Amino acid sequence: MSTENIVAQSRQDDVLILTIQNPPVNAFSPGVPEGLKAGLDAAAADDSVRAVVIIGGGRTFVAGADIRTFNLPREQAPDLRGTIEKLDAFPKPTVAAIHGTALGGGLELAMGCTYRVATPDAQLGLPEVKLGVLPGAGGTQRLPRVVGAQKALEMMLGGNPIKATEGKEVGLIDRLIDGDLLSGAVAFAREVADARPLPRISERGVDGAGPEVFAAARQGIKKSHRGQLSPELIIDLAEMAATAPFEEGWTAEATKFMQAKDSPQSRALRHVFFAEREAAKIPGLGKDTPTLEIRRAGIIGAGTMGGGIAMNFLNAGIPVTIVETTQEALDRGLGVIRRNYENTAKKGRMSQDDVETRMNLLTPSLDMGSLADADIIIEAVFENMDVKKDIFTRLDAIAKPGAILATNTSTLDVNEIAAVTSRPESVIGLHFFSPANVMKLLEIVRADKTSDMVLATSMALARRIKKVGVVVGVCDGFVGNRMVHRYGEEARQLVEEGARPEDVDAAMNALGLPMGPFQMSDMAGLDIGHAIRVHRAKVSGEPEPDGWLDRIVKTGRKGQKTGGGIYDYDETRKPRPNADVQALIDTYRTEKGVTPRDISTEELTKRLAYTLVNEGAQILDEGIAARAGDIDVIYLYGYGFPAYRGGPMQYADEMGLGNVVADLERYGQTPAPLLKRLASEGGSFAGLDASRGR
Ligand code: 3HC
Repeated sequence: MSTENIVAQSRQDDVLILTIQNPPVNAFSPGVPEGLKAGLDAAAADDSVRAVVIIGGGRTFVAGADIRTFNLPREQAPDLRGTIEKLDAFPKPTVAAIHGTALGGGLELAMGCTYRVATPDAQLGLPEVKLGVLPGAGGTQRLPRVVGAQKALEMMLGGNPIKATEGKEVGLIDRLIDGDLLSGAVAFAREVADARPLPRISERGVDGAGPEVFAAARQGIKKSHRGQLSPELIIDLAEMAATAPFEEGWTAEATKFMQAKDSPQSRALRHVFFAEREAAKIPGLGKDTPTLEIRRAGIIGAGTMGGGIAMNFLNAGIPVTIVETTQEALDRGLGVIRRNYENTAKKGRMSQDDVETRMNLLTPSLDMGSLADADIIIEAVFENMDVKKDIFTRLDAIAKPGAILATNTSTLDVNEIAAVTSRPESVIGLHFFSPANVMKLLEIVRADKTSDMVLATSMALARRIKKVGVVVGVCDGFVGNRMVHRYGEEARQLVEEGARPEDVDAAMNALGLPMGPFQMSDMAGLDIGHAIRVHRAKVSGEPEPDGWLDRIVKTGRKGQKTGGGIYDYDETRKPRPNADVQALIDTYRTEKGVTPRDISTEELTKRLAYTLVNEGAQILDEGIAARAGDIDVIYLYGYGFPAYRGGPMQYADEMGLGNVVADLERYGQTPAPLLKRLASEGGSFAGLDASRGR
């Protein structure tokens, strides 16, 4: 597209209109700065132009710098800063006309203009922190000058946009335009055409900028953004806005922006931005694949999982029929759902009316036949193949033609379940994570015969119930649990060799995971992992498992639910080491003839993180996940892997796959063939995704 097409120039008498046309979100891509500068030159040269309006074509104003250009060398990157400098020095009034979103560089562009008008529902924000960078085109210097230090810090550190109506209250927007935005902006431009001197934001001071504001912000990010670089830089720069001349802050901002942009944290967060969007695209499934309409859902099982799943549908306004085998179980399940909603209402996040609206959408039933009119039925009973097969056989006879039949199994073979029905094309796995009303991840398990329509509907449904859906293939544990299973084994092995459980968890906490493997096991219930190990041993004809963790379970310590497991817990649920557990581990080691050794944090971190990576590579090789990015998204939303590390696969890329392989071998593990191959080629998981058309 030529520059003139990317930024179209048009005239309404004395006003020149520059329309940015860079779909889908008018990001500041190559061509946009050239087009804007050419437009400004034309306006400066023409005496009959009294003012300029900059507006976005299509659905939005500018959604920010083009994140895809962040990897370009500085001289090739689109010149957003130069464009804004030109605007700031421009001798005639410029008006940004905002609809949709003015984010990041988009809002910075608008703040470089003399005035800003907006539709009331437009969104304004500086979300750079979410990409591990900072507003790098004047935002850190101009926003505090417009809205004051406190509000600017809130917007830049939180990264969340505000509505234009609030923007008007805080002085960011000069006028809200209710009708046609362009007409309103042109009318406004004429009103201010003769205003002189031009009110430039860069010439203002910063309100409410006492040192205590910045001190409090620095204190706040220790908790909200632990271990992250860009928030610190943002606060430093906002303080400069208040204490130094504009030019100084403007120059410092450019340097710090590059520092943040080139950090592993920003690379990771940018990877996450694109990986999340890619995960929504299923290879081989066209955008126009037809979907089924979901008007009513059925759920079998009103236990913790079934109840949590039901809440997602109720929250989205979808009626649910929930089926149990006994009145008692049904009453208990409904009671838990109501209590959950009541608690949310008590915290002020929902009204009592909202609670009742949701509960009114819920129909309890003891009869599976009442699911005959459901468009989707999700089975959420305990993990037993025979029970699930029986349910799906019955559902086959009850469900209406075309209804989606989903299982919430976390380990079982969805093909085997589908095979008991006469309509395997309608069967899919929908693996929710506990607590299902809170956790954002949904593994969508595509079985051999699942139809495209059922798959596309499930992805659309995930979005509707506010989940992040990732498509995975059939295998024991799918992606998330299969990897976490290996990770748990490695964690137990580390303790057997000499590490203390608290050291193992601390290593993962330091990596940024809120919970290490043992904190996680204590929360999930140690008996659950034990039961799985017993089951696996039975299936493979091995003796009953008798590891140190199995022994802890046998003492009755099952985790948080029994007041203690690997750790003791006080009322704040803070884990504390327990002397009996430590003694049990010591005895175990003695019995096994293990002389405990000191294990460095580096070894703990690498062995745990690389175990995930190694299994992830195997999963990728088997085609269970389509992209390394999908595995990362699963780990971010299902297991609390910190976004600023990008997920386990991105973490491995950052460490260098050659190093990962060398470390795995050094620690006695066998690197997966795919990992070895990529490492020997000097490749990366991101490169592999890209080569497969990601
Ligand atoms: N750069 C490059 N591509 C972008 C982009 C950007 N800033 N913003 C969105 N896109 C792309 C997406 O990758 C997606 O591409 P795809 O169709 O190939 O997958 C497409 O635009 C549509 O995006 P969404 O699917 O996210 O569309 P939505 O309608 O759901 O959301 C949005 C629109 C709210 C604008 C959302 O895309 C968004 O939040 N974008 C990022 C905004 C942002 O972070 N801006 C700051 C950038 S950093 C910056 O400006 C630095 C400066 O200070 C120097």
